[in-house]
Amino acid sequence: AIGPITSLDIVNADITPDGFTRQAVLADGVFPGPIISGNKGDTFQINVTDNLYNHTMNRTTTIHWHGIFQNRSNWADGPAFVTQCPISPGDSFLYNFSIPNQAGTFWYHSHEGLQYCDGLRGPFIVYDLDDPHADLYDVDNDTTVITLADWYHLPAVDVPIPANPDSVLINGLGRQSDDNSSALSVITVEQGKRYRMRLISMSCDPYFNFTIDSHNMTIIEADGQSTEALPGIDSIQIFAAQRYSFVLDANQPVGNYWIRAAPEFTGSSGESAPPTGLAILRYVGAPAEDPNTTETTSVNPLFEPNLHALDNPAAPGSPYPGGADVNILLDFTFNGTDDRFYVNDYTFVHPTVPVLLQILHGSYTAQELLPEGSVYTLPPNKTVEISMPGGVLDEPHPLHLHGHVFSVVRSAGDDDYNYVNPVRRDTVSIGSTASDNVTIRFDTNNPGPWFLHCHINFHLYAGFAVVMAEDTGDISSNEVNPVSWDSLCPIYDALSELD
Ligand code: C2O
Repeated sequence: AIGPITSLDIVNADITPDGFTRQAVLADGVFPGPIISGNKGDTFQINVTDNLYNHTMNRTTTIHWHGIFQNRSNWADGPAFVTQCPISPGDSFLYNFSIPNQAGTFWYHSHEGLQYCDGLRGPFIVYDLDDPHADLYDVDNDTTVITLADWYHLPAVDVPIPANPDSVLINGLGRQSDDNSSALSVITVEQGKRYRMRLISMSCDPYFNFTIDSHNMTIIEADGQSTEALPGIDSIQIFAAQRYSFVLDANQPVGNYWIRAAPEFTGSSGESAPPTGLAILRYVGAPAEDPNTTETTSVNPLFEPNLHALDNPAAPGSPYPGGADVNILLDFTFNGTDDRFYVNDYTFVHPTVPVLLQILHGSYTAQELLPEGSVYTLPPNKTVEISMPGGVLDEPHPLHLHGHVFSVVRSAGDDDYNYVNPVRRDTVSIGSTASDNVTIRFDTNNPGPWFLHCHINFHLYAGFAVVMAEDTGDISSNEVNPVSWDSLCPIYDALSELD
């Protein structure tokens, strides 16, 4: 079966999501972009057309399907100058990929410049019609999606860093200040029913503390991976690009309750903190008015080490730190002179020829691949461990690896390693202190050049990235939905640049 959305039209248009009108970069003219959904096993063919004219927010574009493995379709992954050239204004690019063995909560976003901060972000949900855990969760409804987004009144290139949003949008609506009365999103529930709700952080920068007044949540999924049900959670700290599913029991008196997403505040004292994002949980039968509930004091916040993968929980490889086949240390630093981030002494500046095309042209080693010092090669069929000490700028940074999920064998804020039943996810906070050493494990079973980067888009833009070029010798074989290599860079003959 083919997913119902077969095209996205990328346009510049004005929107007023929080009482303030600005021009944005939008998929099909809406924010967030339309929900793309399908079923495990589906093939998605999505033709993306670039109709952008505003230079300030990039006239070129690409789309990344965040969390989708792109096994044997690595060319469809999306990051500009890693797997393809950006799409030019007036052109289209057909993303054609299958999702044979994933289900859960994903999203899509521009992977060109700072463009997703300017609006190009939307949900991507993969249902499992034969979910082996359906009985375990016992829900009446599993279609609720809740997106959280930081929103800026300036184009992203003009936003002062560290970025503090002008508002936080929940399902595309918010208020720029407390005395504002712009419309908010309403999530309707029926008393006595149980809902699987899918929470997606589409943040460009801050993490959010997510709460629902008078309700607690049972976590059942992290980043497209089912987890052992973790009940009783009253607050979820969710970093940029992370997702959770939780079960909400609509067991409170009929009424209206605030849903809140409080953004991280990185400003100095004296500056005012950005407003908390608000939406309304409304029971059927309650009047259409704002809630007057008060915030529940959190006694049981989500703590990542308590979250365990449900299926095949053990991490791959020998169960001790450094015991993988390939062990990599990534040392992250910020240079206050050029305002750029460095990974093992290299700042990522994108190459003119996408890494994938360099590989297809016969460059297989880290020494040959550009950008110099930013490409790591990984051999096939090995276990890889990557340790990532934290503390860069004393902030938590969400690191995302394309093409994989990984086991988080050591989490931020935790001194212990867990190889027995760690959480599995695709985006992890590396913590804000130098004593953090977040460590991940995965198997190299997916050939491709996979971006590994901080998902704070402003940091990616400032060089906080490397490419893990996995199984370079095998990248072009066995493509499931082959594309002509020329179409990855139609604007110029990219390969001739290499000769
Ligand atoms: Cu959602 Cu390279 O990221």
